[in-house]
Amino acid sequence: MKNLAILTGGGDAPGLNAVIRAAVKTAIQEFGCEILGIRNGFDGFLDHGGIFQLSLDTVRGILPRGGTILGTANRGNPFARKVIKDGVETIEDTSRQIIENIQTLGLDALIVVGGDGTLRIAHDLYKLGVPVIGVPKTIDNDIGGTDFTFGYDTALNAAMDAIDRLHTTAEAHHRVMILELMGRDAGFIALHAGLAGGADVILIPEIPFRIEAIIKKIRRRIARGTYFSILSVAEGASPAGQEQVYATAGDAVYIPRLGGIGGLVAKRLTEDAGLETRVTVLGHLQRGGSPTAFDRSLATRFGSAAVHLANSGGFGRMVALQGTRIVDISLEEALAVPRRVDVNGDEVRTARAIGISFGDE
Ligand code: F6P
Repeated sequence: MKNLAILTGGGDAPGLNAVIRAAVKTAIQEFGCEILGIRNGFDGFLDHGGIFQLSLDTVRGILPRGGTILGTANRGNPFARKVIKDGVETIEDTSRQIIENIQTLGLDALIVVGGDGTLRIAHDLYKLGVPVIGVPKTIDNDIGGTDFTFGYDTALNAAMDAIDRLHTTAEAHHRVMILELMGRDAGFIALHAGLAGGADVILIPEIPFRIEAIIKKIRRRIARGTYFSILSVAEGASPAGQEQVYATAGDAVYIPRLGGIGGLVAKRLTEDAGLETRVTVLGHLQRGGSPTAFDRSLATRFGSAAVHLANSGGFGRMVALQGTRIVDISLEEALAVPRRVDVNGDEVRTARAIGISFGDE
C-alpha cells in the first residue's frame, strides 16, 4: 500500500477531523504511506485544486475541532451532480470522470467518511472497481451494523444541555416547552436526550403519536401541581396516519429536509387545550462544536482501523463498532437495513416505566 486518499461527504458531524488525523498518522507512521485529502466530498475529484497532500503538520491540532478540514458537500453525488451549463442547471453523471481521476492518481484505497447517502455512493463506486473503505459518520446514529456512529454522542449532549436549559425557564413560566431535534427518520437523539434530560414526553418517528395523548399527559401533570412540561421531539416524528413535516422539498439530487413538527404540535396544544407553549428548534447547534471524549475516541479508532482495513485489502467494507470492539462489515450489509429505535427495547420500556409518554397511550 503506497497511496491513500480520504474524503468526508454529506452533513458534517463532530469527530470528522479526529478520523482524518488518525488516518493520516496511521498511514504515515505505521505504513509509510502517502495520503491525499479530497476536498468537499467527491466534488474534489472534479474541481481544480480539490486534491492536496496530507501530512502530520496538516493534522496537528485538529482533534478537538468540529467540522472537517477537508470540507464536505451535501449535493456531491457523482452519479447525479448539479452543473450549470450556459446558465442552465442540468444533472450529470460524473462517475466515469471520478473513476478515471482515481486511476490516474494511482490510489490503492479511497477512505470515504460519510452517512448513508455518501456510503451508498461509495458502494456504487466500489461496484465499478474503486477500492473503497467506509467509515460511518452521522449524528443520526442510523447506520446499520455499527452500534454507534461518531458525532451522535456530541449531538446528544448538545440536545441534553438544551433540555436542561429549557427546564428552568419552563418551570419559571409554567409553560410547555418543545425542543425539536434532528435525527431524520431515527429517534435516537430525541429519545436519549429525553431520557438524559428528564423530558415528560418524547416523540420519535418510530412511534406515531396522537395529540390527545400528549394533552392527557400534560393535564395529568397539571392536576398533580406540576405546571410545566418538556417535550423532546424528533424532527421525523409524525401524528398517527399523517405524513412527516418537511421544511423544504427535495429535488433531483437533494433529499427533502425535515422540520416543523415542533411548531405543529405547539399549535395543536395551544388551540386544542389552551396550553401556553413555546418551541425551540436546536438545528445545526447539534452538529457544531468540539466532539465529546466518546466521539473523539471512536473517530480516532475508526480512522486508524480504516487504514489497517485498506492495507489488508478489505475493499467495499466499512469499519464499525460492535459492543466494545472495532470490526469491519461489508458496505452492502451496513446499508441493507438502517438502524432505528427498537420500540420494544429496554430504552423505550425504561422511559415508559418512569412515566415518560410517547404520545401513543
Ligand atoms: O443527517 C444529519 C442531519 O443533521 C439530519 O439530522 C438533518 O435532518 C439533516 O442532516 C439536515 O441537513 P442540512 O445540514 O442539509 O440542513
